Amino acid sequence: MCGIVGAIAQRPVTEILLEGLRRLEYRGYDSAGLAVISADNLLMRERALGKVAELEKKLENSSLAGTLGIAHTRWATHGEPAERNAHPHVSANRIAVVHNGIIENYEELRESLQAEGYVFESDTDTEVIVHLIEKAESQGIELLEAVMSVRKKLRGAYALGVISNDEPDSLIVARHGSPLVIGLGLGENFIGSDIQAMLPVTSRFIYLENGDTAQLSRHEINIYDENGDAVKREIQQSTASMCASDLGEYRHYMHKEIFEQPQAIQATLDSRLTGESFINCIVGETSEGVAAKDILAQVEEIQIIACGTSYHAGLIARYWIESLTEVPCNVEVASEYRYRRQPPKKNMLVITLSQSGETADTLAALDKVKQDGCLATLTICNVPESSLTRESDFSLMTIAGPEIGVASTKAFTTQLVALQLLLGQLLQAKQADDKLIIELISGLKQLPVIVEQVLEHDKAIEKMAEDFIEKNNALFLGRGEQYPVAMEGALKLKEISYIHAEAYPAGELKHGPLALVDSEMPIITVAPNTSLLEKLKSNLEEVRSRGGMLYVFADKAAEIKQQDNIYVIEMPAVPESIAAIVYSVPLQLLSYYTAVFKGTDVDKPRNLAKSVTVE
Ligand code: AGP
Repeated sequence: MCGIVGAIAQRPVTEILLEGLRRLEYRGYDSAGLAVISADNLLMRERALGKVAELEKKLENSSLAGTLGIAHTRWATHGEPAERNAHPHVSANRIAVVHNGIIENYEELRESLQAEGYVFESDTDTEVIVHLIEKAESQGIELLEAVMSVRKKLRGAYALGVISNDEPDSLIVARHGSPLVIGLGLGENFIGSDIQAMLPVTSRFIYLENGDTAQLSRHEINIYDENGDAVKREIQQSTASMCASDLGEYRHYMHKEIFEQPQAIQATLDSRLTGESFINCIVGETSEGVAAKDILAQVEEIQIIACGTSYHAGLIARYWIESLTEVPCNVEVASEYRYRRQPPKKNMLVITLSQSGETADTLAALDKVKQDGCLATLTICNVPESSLTRESDFSLMTIAGPEIGVASTKAFTTQLVALQLLLGQLLQAKQADDKLIIELISGLKQLPVIVEQVLEHDKAIEKMAEDFIEKNNALFLGRGEQYPVAMEGALKLKEISYIHAEAYPAGELKHGPLALVDSEMPIITVAPNTSLLEKLKSNLEEVRSRGGMLYVFADKAAEIKQQDNIYVIEMPAVPESIAAIVYSVPLQLLSYYTAVFKGTDVDKPRNLAKSVTVE
């Protein structure tokens, strides 16, 4: 994880670096630091435990200034969050390194450096890199060459930014696994973990490839591939705009983003369907030049791969795909899929789901899929220039806009909308009955308005959340596609309120978890008017008769009445095809208000980061 940013300019870079860090805070926020080469060629560094704002405060009273610098916001992997573990790491007071990734062989490297007399100040894996570079450079080679030689010793994933006071006109970067982008300015150049970090200063970017090392001066950029040969990488003009990070009337981004869902859903649907058909919205082609429509006609099997909330979207889509088509669909978390041996399946379409498009496990799984062989790869993603979008044959973009809260909300519901758009195109390619297609379209068209109606329950859900302030555990129940909805509800609650929450298929309760039920255990469930409603109601009776307190979001037709141990919020009537999307929304609000009452850092919950770019 972690975010890195760097600049080499003719003007002071501290504010550019700080703004870059603020924009990268979604990647980690347990500590931050910055190093520059000063006008009199001194390496100056400032670090702080906590968020970028803490570093900013420290810098207000610091003389640190320079036109060449690197900076970092950290999500701890090796070594607790502490100032001494914050980057940049320094060797011999003259070389500084920022790193995103994990060095797998750091222990052996550390031991051999210690044997040579290097003293380690941190518990990080990164510190070996800076000492190795210092060791190489002190043998008389230039910084670029030193970094290239050190790379050969490193195993693992890394994006690096390196500066030395011996070379005040040089910023060296290297990439292997973790993302790194160069931003091109006039008489100044930049580096960042993503383009957002650099949008205030440039819109022209070069995406480094794995194995690349680059040397940036104020006027030049030289890139070398893994063999050390000079290479040219394409310059891309980005159309991305500086994200509107205005909270407006809202106290938290999460609340704002929950309320943005009707617009985000509408934007994801716009121009992608007519009254009777789905319009192709899948961009790209295979390396053999085959278009999406032909791939969908051929596909015999679908594999969805994702992490966290995106994985839950995949689980819901499996119910949809298998109930309406003859195409079997598997869904697996990327961290498992990437290490599981599987026979190549020539007619399998592999779909990765990701808000950020930078999740390391999902990217590694995509890499494995490409090596194993499949029919085609498609990503459903919210970031057009992300690694997943660039590395997949096809992409279908969600138009959720930037999601800042760590807990995913609008990205999730727009992923579900995108999955329905994909399903619609699959049905058309397989020449399914028009009736199915028209029903799907009709549900989608009603969706933004129905979500608006659900959001009107905001205050009622806030009231319900008061019951959760003192709770330590919660159970979420669902049946059919509402089971992954319950899983997502449980993830949201633990993520931001730190209440331990688990989700079960309601029918599974009697096989063990029922033992947990007593008057202290809140049980949250969603009860849309679907074919499994009666089964769910029987399961709820099992809970009630054991003294469990039920919190139910129910369709009026479910006829579940508010009583002593049943707290009911009545939901609007919804077509079955969109019920999973609609019923996800009240669970987001319930988690949000519980977290607000508990006083947690809703948008930046402890130990987490928005984009998980390490394994
Ligand atoms: C969502 O609330 C989480 N913060 C997390 O599970 C997230 O969905 C997961 O890390 C995957 O991220 P991605 O969608 O960017 O790949």
